[in-house]
Amino acid sequence: MTELMGDWKRSHHCSALQKSDLGKTVILMGWVDTRRDHGGVIFIDLRDREGVTQIVFNPQHDPKLHKKAHTLKPEYVIAVKGEVVPRPAGTENPKLPTGEIEVKVNELRILNESKTPPFVIQDEVDASEEVRLKYRYLDLRRRPMVKNLTLRSKICIAIRKFLIENGFLEIETPALAKSTPEGARDFLVPSRLLPGEFYALPQSPQLFKQILMIAGYEKYFQIARCFRDEDLRADRQPEFTQVDIEMSFVTEEDIYALTEQMIYRVFKETLDMEIKIPFPRTPYAESLKKYGTDKPDLRFGMELVELSLMLTGTGFKVFREILENKGVVKGINVQGGAKFSLKEINEIITLATSSGAKGLAWIKVEEGGPASSIVKFFTSKELEGIQKAMSAKTGDLLLFVADKREVANKVLGNLRIEMAKKMNLIESGFKFVWVMDFPLFEWNEEEKRIQPTHHPFASAVEEDIEKIIELNNQELPRLLNHPEFIQQLLRLKGRTYDLVLNGVEIGSGNIRNHRLDVQRAIFRILGITEENAIERFGFFLEALEYGAPPHGGIAPGLDRLVMLMAGEESIRDVIAFPKTATGTCPMTGAPSKVEEKQLKELHIKTV
Ligand code: AMO
Ligand code: AMP
Repeated sequence: MTELMGDWKRSHHCSALQKSDLGKTVILMGWVDTRRDHGGVIFIDLRDREGVTQIVFNPQHDPKLHKKAHTLKPEYVIAVKGEVVPRPAGTENPKLPTGEIEVKVNELRILNESKTPPFVIQDEVDASEEVRLKYRYLDLRRRPMVKNLTLRSKICIAIRKFLIENGFLEIETPALAKSTPEGARDFLVPSRLLPGEFYALPQSPQLFKQILMIAGYEKYFQIARCFRDEDLRADRQPEFTQVDIEMSFVTEEDIYALTEQMIYRVFKETLDMEIKIPFPRTPYAESLKKYGTDKPDLRFGMELVELSLMLTGTGFKVFREILENKGVVKGINVQGGAKFSLKEINEIITLATSSGAKGLAWIKVEEGGPASSIVKFFTSKELEGIQKAMSAKTGDLLLFVADKREVANKVLGNLRIEMAKKMNLIESGFKFVWVMDFPLFEWNEEEKRIQPTHHPFASAVEEDIEKIIELNNQELPRLLNHPEFIQQLLRLKGRTYDLVLNGVEIGSGNIRNHRLDVQRAIFRILGITEENAIERFGFFLEALEYGAPPHGGIAPGLDRLVMLMAGEESIRDVIAFPKTATGTCPMTGAPSKVEEKQLKELHIKTV
């Protein structure tokens, strides 16, 4: 039987009451969290968004009320009127803000009942993610989720405050837009009024923010929703949020400084932490060389060491042949790893081969010297050289990959992380790094073509701009088939940068092309024909003809930043209503079939 709130008004939230409130008559409202019956006395933790308060029903105090309290089950919504009393000595809970008091209930109103929830609302949930997302309203009642979403809200407020103080305008851009090229597939929305035509949901506000610069707005930001139809991972969602930023008349240094100060403020105001700024910087090439990736995790060392030169002509056939075929030999030193059993080493080898290695060679550095089945193939000079280059000490495990440079980097980059986890080397804390000096273009091996490292609107460094103009001549389409010409293109440097935190790319940006001739040349280099460019980006190219200022920007991924700040492993835990790995929403059932009538109106036939 449920009752009405009537004239009751909540006096405090469930985390508010303290010793200083003793003796007060209060009205609390919330959910029945846990119930314990001790010798006839019923103790209930009453929960709302802010926390819990212990409320007490004593049969000696009021038998009728106590009987009513007996009907309460988890997740019932109740209102209680009662008196704040001290908890009996020895029963205080110092972990709770309300741990010194309890509320002796005089009146109870049951505002709503609840079915038995499919999982218990507690910090550690043992339900599958599918069930958590289906009953997200229950999952969101759990304390860690409340904490995460509260943090997210605070981070957004800190960002807004900081940017507004620094002269930025918050401007919204359309969600029903035209395809923008961030490299993923678009989500399309059919137009009812224009049969056969489609909007694309923006992969980012990239072109709109550049157009705002052309419009003279100078400093723009938006906490913007972006949509990308791509394969999902723990740190990827089909719709996610960027802190999208663009500024005019700036260089990379301005963007670095602004982003660093913004993140400093965010950490200070939300976690009360003072992070160290400026952030260190690593050129892209150095990042690949040392960490095998452009998203280096700097919380531990274990840098990749190149041994190619030293091992040229080695007696170990596997390495020699790969080196003769322009491959490389690189390795990492897992300090203390010599203790691994052969079984464990075999698991490491499986890890390596599953990320693309043809094999993984290893040497244990033991008291008696290097030990492994491959040691016999090396000269003692080679063995000494390897150990010296890798700073190997007794007890270490050396792992080697021989392959094409990209494969060796990728495999060892992954192993470096897995080994650091296994050896417990990852310090807690936040290690930021700017990765900069990216090449303007990269080679897409699958599709055998040049593609932008970031996106086609990124500028080259000033000394390469004239080269780009020169390259854009009549011969260009023909030259694009020449490997040497491609090499020349791959040497062009971009004014691009990524911000990486603990091995996760949390932001990306660049200085843009503001000159039409340069932008046109880049499109042609990318194999985009003039017609195609006009069809896709004609509006933007036209805008570049009307006095576009030099400009640049960045877009930190809000979900990933919040995830790392909250200490979570998946961005799904910092998004109120995320999608599953297959892009569905188990709660609403989206995506779903629609009525035939709707499809007809949209001039769409499904097969
Ligand atoms: P980019 O595509 O690198 O750049 O995206 C910027 C940042 O957004 C985050 N991010 C994602 N987060 C969750 N799920 C996804 N699917 C996802 N994709 C990207 C990442 C990434 O660093 N317009 C440019 C920015 C610019 O040049 O100013 C852009 O969108 O943290
Ligand atoms: P094999 O001669 O193929 O039996 O290989 C001898 C050793 O070299 C084994 O331990 C392999 O795992 C290792 N190995 C094979 N290919 C590679 C490679 N490309 N890089 C590193 N080690 C390799």
